[in-house]
Amino acid sequence: MTTRMRQMEAADLDGVEAIERVIYSHPWTRGNFADSLAAGYHCWVLERDGQLAGYAVTMIAAGEAHLLNLSVAAPLQRQGLGSELLRFVLQLARDCAAVTIYLEVRESNTAARALYARHGFSEVGVRKGYYPATASREDAVTMTKVLI
Ligand SMILES: CC(C)(COP(=O)(O)OP(=O)(O)OC[C@H]1O[C@@H](n2cnc3c(N)ncnc32)[C@H](O)[C@@H]1OP(=O)(O)O)[C@@H](O)C(=O)NCCC(=O)NCCS
Repeated sequence: MTTRMRQMEAADLDGVEAIERVIYSHPWTRGNFADSLAAGYHCWVLERDGQLAGYAVTMIAAGEAHLLNLSVAAPLQRQGLGSELLRFVLQLARDCAAVTIYLEVRESNTAARALYARHGFSEVGVRKGYYPATASREDAVTMTKVLI
């Protein structure tokens, strides 16, 4: 099995949207990804054996990286691909002279919180009611990592 990273293109949006809809209760829309591409955010996809397996969207400016989306297709989770994507994003941020990286994650998302903790992120705060949820709102945990 071979994996490779490449930049996301408009032609990827159907596949990205299909993955997104399965793995999130409140997925990003196609427009969110199109806007990210248009804004020049760092949008990358991970292919495994030529198939779209995951993707990450990162905004990097003024020495700070903000990881906005990191996702692995449902059938391919827990096989190391999320770690591969995250390692790529960390190196990308360093290459773009970011000193810190931060992200928000749903409080209930134990898988993602464990992934980020494993890669050296610390939980530094809570944003109350940051995310939409089925009944009301859900808090976000803010996590950061120093890159230097
Ligand atoms: C979070 C996500 C990206 C992880 O990707 P993945 O490919 O499954 O992660 P990996 O296989 O690289 O796992 C690395 C580590 O993360 C942690 N982890 C991943 N999935 C986990 C789970 N379901 N439960 C607990 N820990 C988990 C573990 O520490 C794991 O190491 P281990 O398998 O040796 O125990 C993936 O579950 C996903 O796409 N989820 C839906 C989208 C999402 O929530 N994205 C994050 C938004 S902030």
